[in-house]
Amino acid sequence: MHELESLRQRFSTLYGASPQVISQAPGRAEIIGNHTDYNNGYALAAAISRNTITLLSRRDDRLIRIASHGYAADPVEFSLDDMKKGEHGNWLNYVKGVLREIMKVKPEIAGMDILIQSDVPSSGGVSSSAALELSLATGIMQLFGIEMDPVKKAHMCQKAENGELIGIPCGFLDQASSGLCQKDHLLFLDFQPEGDMPISEMKQIPIDLSAHDMSFVVIVDKDVKRNLGTSGYPARRALCEKSVPILADMLGKEVSSLRQVSVAEFVSCRQKLEELDPEMRKRVEHIVYENQRVLDAVRALEAGEIETFGRILTDSGKSALELYELDAKTPELTKLVTQGRLIEGVVGMRNMGGGFSAIALALVKNSHMNTFKEMLDDAYGPGLEYIPFVPSEGAGILS
Ligand code: GLA
Repeated sequence: MHELESLRQRFSTLYGASPQVISQAPGRAEIIGNHTDYNNGYALAAAISRNTITLLSRRDDRLIRIASHGYAADPVEFSLDDMKKGEHGNWLNYVKGVLREIMKVKPEIAGMDILIQSDVPSSGGVSSSAALELSLATGIMQLFGIEMDPVKKAHMCQKAENGELIGIPCGFLDQASSGLCQKDHLLFLDFQPEGDMPISEMKQIPIDLSAHDMSFVVIVDKDVKRNLGTSGYPARRALCEKSVPILADMLGKEVSSLRQVSVAEFVSCRQKLEELDPEMRKRVEHIVYENQRVLDAVRALEAGEIETFGRILTDSGKSALELYELDAKTPELTKLVTQGRLIEGVVGMRNMGGGFSAIALALVKNSHMNTFKEMLDDAYGPGLEYIPFVPSEGAGILS
């Protein structure tokens, strides 16, 4: 039976009627642009071919009944008037976080019956949380006729994730990717805020890897778990922020984010920064060069120079481990990326996302995909999952 049909039936069995709306939102792959989002820089992203589906119907009261494959087979209930924070990390905090943000726009929404189903791996790295937030927000907004610019909708979901109920200090990459990506395209994002928009530019870049006989694959060791909020993520973010006035002083110009520091400017004050704070020097170096790498990667892609594009991805990964130390206390990540990129047929390979977990992105020649997996399993050991994907469609309504 078709997956959607069986989900519809499951919804009817749980709630006694068919869903009125079905929405979806995908997980994301960070193609390049590592930790650049909260530094107002650039990134290139894709939606992966795994998504979170939400089925919903309106109720006449203020009750939310919600079931989720993987979290709650039978519906759990709470009232829209009583959305207290649950235990840290509880999946319902994400649901309540999105509801709270939507109620700031439309306080009079009614209760709902909801069923959620996802095949986005939840162990970190492909943004299962953004997929949940965007899928839910898209469904609820359709159900209640709330119209909102898709960029603002994604930004609202980021606010939910940053807010009191979830409290993860992530940038805008994940929600923007899950919300805005298009099938067969990579999404270029410029995170410089403009007016009330969190980005100043976005561009859909067509990509057809089959023409190059290559594929993207995400590789993850699900046993290496991390929580972004308690990882080294907040400390790295804070150090970047701390460096901004220091660089402004050193460069004698106005700097409000690392995005405004060019490679040449960084080189001119590298030594001084090193003497002041070697750790800060490394973090800043990663971000400044990473922004340039994103622009170079876009240029290579648009010129059809796929091997160059792949090399830039690999350089990004080296910098993330050496300078941003995203493998601190995660030797599995070091092993995964350093072993993987040596294998024949790998055009580019890098870690992906926040770090401190074992997750990577590889661009691999199709002729070598099977041997790549075999050799990586041999080098790494058991436990790797391979998620091949083609750039897919961002959040939307299925029915
Ligand atoms: C995580 C965060 C994003 C971004 C990436 C690193 O996925 O949620 O906001 O900072 O890490 O690029």
